[in-house]
Amino acid sequence: MTGFNDQVIEEFRRTKGNLGGRFEGWQLILLTTTGAKSGKRRTNPLGYLEIDGKTVVVASNMGSPSHPGWYHNIRRDHRVTIETGAETYEAIAAVPSAAERDALFARIVAEERGFADYQAKTSREMPVVVLHRIDDRVRGMGDFLVEVHDWLREELKTLRAGVDEIVAGRAESLGIAKPLRAHCVSFCDALTKHHTGEDMGAFPMLAQRFPALAPTLTRLGEDHVVVATLQKRIRELVEGYVHGESDPVLLRDDFDELAGKLEAHFAHEERTVVTALNVTAPG
Ligand SMILES: [Fe+2]
Ligand SMILES: [Fe+2]
Repeated sequence: MTGFNDQVIEEFRRTKGNLGGRFEGWQLILLTTTGAKSGKRRTNPLGYLEIDGKTVVVASNMGSPSHPGWYHNIRRDHRVTIETGAETYEAIAAVPSAAERDALFARIVAEERGFADYQAKTSREMPVVVLHRIDDRVRGMGDFLVEVHDWLREELKTLRAGVDEIVAGRAESLGIAKPLRAHCVSFCDALTKHHTGEDMGAFPMLAQRFPALAPTLTRLGEDHVVVATLQKRIRELVEGYVHGESDPVLLRDDFDELAGKLEAHFAHEERTVVTALNVTAPG
């Protein structure tokens, strides 16, 4: 098998994807993944289909009982490289939901009967994988997430400035404590809504499509719990704040702890999920 693969890869690269002889007419790409166990880059020639502008491949392994190695690899690391002959680009490999998989597979079989024959040879359900090109110009849900983070960062700064006023003892005379209270409540509500949206919507969607992201998403979800606890403490401090009695330094310290945790969380989230969100849910 390896010898055969190497031969196809060599000819594919030499002819820039225009395979002749016994490969004449094959619609192939070269997919390079990172070995789940070895960590080494592995290249496989694969038949593909273009469906609704997306490159779709089937983990058929020619109908053998086990999934091909590249499928195990993309479940551990979804970043892949694709060679079409005409160009080479980076992509991320997404596993569609069960319903999406079935709809795609029906269209694949309608175009390429051979995949139905492969499926008939094995009792395992052959996975379908969608290869999304990484294009920095594509704006989507990931960029929206960054915008929400930036807005929350600004709000937090404004709130922190308000707390400083209280610490400096100027708040009551300037009538700041009351608006700060209202502002704090609306900020906490916005943050809670954002994290609930991630916990209920974006994160389960990403974990399903990109199994490699699952541990990261679990950690990000745990951050949400930590942040919620801090938020609750701050809200209680702000709501129970009595000028001249409560210690504003305690409030400031809690605020700084929240700001530090949130910034680390936002940064981690932006590093790990923005690209995947952009390609799967373009704006
Ligand atoms: Fe988050
Ligand atoms: Fe977020």
